[in-house]
Amino acid sequence: MMKKLALFLLPLLFSGYLSAQELNSEAKKVFIDNLLSKMTIQEKAGQLRLISVGGDLTLDKVLDNIEVGEVGGIFNTIVEPDLSQMQERALKSPNKIPLFFGFDVIHGHRTIFPINLGIASSWDRSVMAKVAEISAEEATADGLNITWAPMVDITRDPRWGRVSEGFGEDPYLTSEAGRIFVERMQKQSLADKKSLATAVKHFALYGAVEGGREYNSTDMSERKMFQEYLVPYKAAIDAGSRAVMVSLVSVNGIPATANHWLLTEVLRNQWHFDGVVVSDHGAIRELINHGVASDAKDAVRVAIKAGIDMSMNDEYFLQFLPELVKEGAITEDQLNQACRRVLELKYDMGLFSDPNRYLDPKLDIETMFSNNRLHREEARDVARRSIVLLKNENKILPLARNKKIAVIGPLANSKRDILGSWSGAGRTNLAVTPLEGIKNTVKNPKSVSYAFGANLSDDANLYRFLNLYGENSKFDDRPADKIIAEAVNIAKKSDVVIAFVGEAEGMAHESSSRTDLSLQASQKRLLKALKETGKPLVIVLMNGRPLTLTEEYAQADAMLETWFLGTEGGNAIADVLFGQYNPSGKLPMSFPNNVGQIPVYYSHLNTGRPRGTENMGKYTTSYFDSPNEPLFPFGFGLSYTDFAMDFSLSSPEMDKEGEIVVTVNVENIGDKEGMQTVQLYLQDVTASVSRPVKELMGFENITLKPHEKGKVKFTIKYDMLKFWNDKMQYVAEPGKFNVFIGSDSTTQNKQTFTLLDK
Ligand code: NOJ
Repeated sequence: MMKKLALFLLPLLFSGYLSAQELNSEAKKVFIDNLLSKMTIQEKAGQLRLISVGGDLTLDKVLDNIEVGEVGGIFNTIVEPDLSQMQERALKSPNKIPLFFGFDVIHGHRTIFPINLGIASSWDRSVMAKVAEISAEEATADGLNITWAPMVDITRDPRWGRVSEGFGEDPYLTSEAGRIFVERMQKQSLADKKSLATAVKHFALYGAVEGGREYNSTDMSERKMFQEYLVPYKAAIDAGSRAVMVSLVSVNGIPATANHWLLTEVLRNQWHFDGVVVSDHGAIRELINHGVASDAKDAVRVAIKAGIDMSMNDEYFLQFLPELVKEGAITEDQLNQACRRVLELKYDMGLFSDPNRYLDPKLDIETMFSNNRLHREEARDVARRSIVLLKNENKILPLARNKKIAVIGPLANSKRDILGSWSGAGRTNLAVTPLEGIKNTVKNPKSVSYAFGANLSDDANLYRFLNLYGENSKFDDRPADKIIAEAVNIAKKSDVVIAFVGEAEGMAHESSSRTDLSLQASQKRLLKALKETGKPLVIVLMNGRPLTLTEEYAQADAMLETWFLGTEGGNAIADVLFGQYNPSGKLPMSFPNNVGQIPVYYSHLNTGRPRGTENMGKYTTSYFDSPNEPLFPFGFGLSYTDFAMDFSLSSPEMDKEGEIVVTVNVENIGDKEGMQTVQLYLQDVTASVSRPVKELMGFENITLKPHEKGKVKFTIKYDMLKFWNDKMQYVAEPGKFNVFIGSDSTTQNKQTFTLLDK
């Protein structure tokens, strides 16, 4: 059918009427019009149905549904030959429309990279690109066409368990990550055989749930939305993301899934998004609970009218769409529109010309794993770049490789935990634990002793609730004192103690909100006992969110934030501990001193009564029982060397057409080679609305040898000065701007320029 169409359109190309691109889009239109004209309403509704095998929907049932044309896409299956079998059945359906296959490829597919908060800690665009490319390569080799990623929800409340999946608190850093993931996963065109379509999520504001409680509501001014929270979704859409996944929560009183303003006025009309809008798991039926739909049929009506195209894991679209069209509650045009978008995506994926293009029924997963040596090397490099050095008293790190080392803690030898959540296609048995990584690195593995030290939590029920009964996240039934005594015993016999504490991966996942962000009591007891041995104490944190760590910070001689680092995590940790890699990571989220400070983020507004140095006392914005500042600020991270920086501006003023070049002189003033992330922040001093004290506008990495000097340049352009003004127009206003350069968000290293009124 395709060939015939192409022949028919070819003369138009040569006559100069149509470009090759137009020809393709014309051919696509003709092809899809033709297809739609042959489809029944039932089949059209079927195309909007995204389901997975599981529960009542056995593989056989799914295959039958596919064959009668009642399924548009499958998600959560990565088993060959099941995928091939499903596609075969789709090609027997009335109009032979192929399926697409989706999966959550969040931080790697088979080779697992650090969780996204870790990837963001690299502050390195090439690292982000690498992760996205390898993920897409493995996922497409595994038969997948689309992923529910990147997750670009801005997260400023670490009580929410899903902060682990995002890139942190900052719109610019998150936008950069989102853009890069989309560009590198989708490639130039979906016609590329290694291209994986992306569905940026969760549109919108999932990360801003009240109180950090999972699935709770969000409420936010439009200014804050457009200025901060919506920015990364827009960046991913501008980068060409072919799909959007909608958030499960309410946005200003209306569930996102039912929110016409969000899905149609903003997404379609203002941002001109023409891809597929997918609802999240079960979101259509949840509209009844939200109280915006009276029953299942009403929920379908509300969702489709708001702008949902495809429903994920909902039987209701198929059940009620045909009826709703017949009754005139929705028009057939509305149904056609949604169906057209799905068919267009499949067309661009090349599925109509080659439905099996990603499928290989002979695919042997074992070979796939053993062939990805290169991917593992990359995973190790990404992992070490994601580690953040938080403390290094008396330069205790890096450690010499010939020391007697006590490796202690519930996370020291857990293969499951180091992979992090959303790593379903990864292999636990291939993960390298910190204990293994350390043994691989030291001169004599026998100089390393290990003790479990403590349960992750004293609460066995918590293990059950969070599904923590993985092979290594085991609950030790012995009395806690006994488990600690073992650890203390080996600690006393060693030169240095390395304690691996934090969270199980299941504690930083969907549906794992917390109100208390301190380490569990079991782990605190362990650290106290280890401290009392008087041995140097290195605390290595594994966790998926900022924790409150004031006590541990005081106890530690050195402290590393390692998140969940993925398949090569243990080797990467050893690389940093023993100095094969000089840590360069920077925090993408502020770490609060206590839960009461939340939300604590660097880019807050000033107040009428700022808490200044001279004005510290009463009647200023403050708490009487806590500092305002976080324990570790956004952008913070130490190195085994030190850097000095100063900078100059090319001009003290600029106009609309102009630009200012910021030249930063960086010097490595320590005695080790290292990488520094130079961070550029701007502040609009006076405007028609209050502007943040500082906003990240650029970052660049520079690697310098001991005592080497180098330069980093940034260009400030007019567009970077724009914001949503008092009339909600996106403009730059003339006046004074502060430029800050530094190695974290607390920098006061400042210069000023003026934006002229012309
Ligand atoms: C629900 C999650 O909210 C979403 O992020 C994910 O993509 C889907 N489940 C599919 O697994």
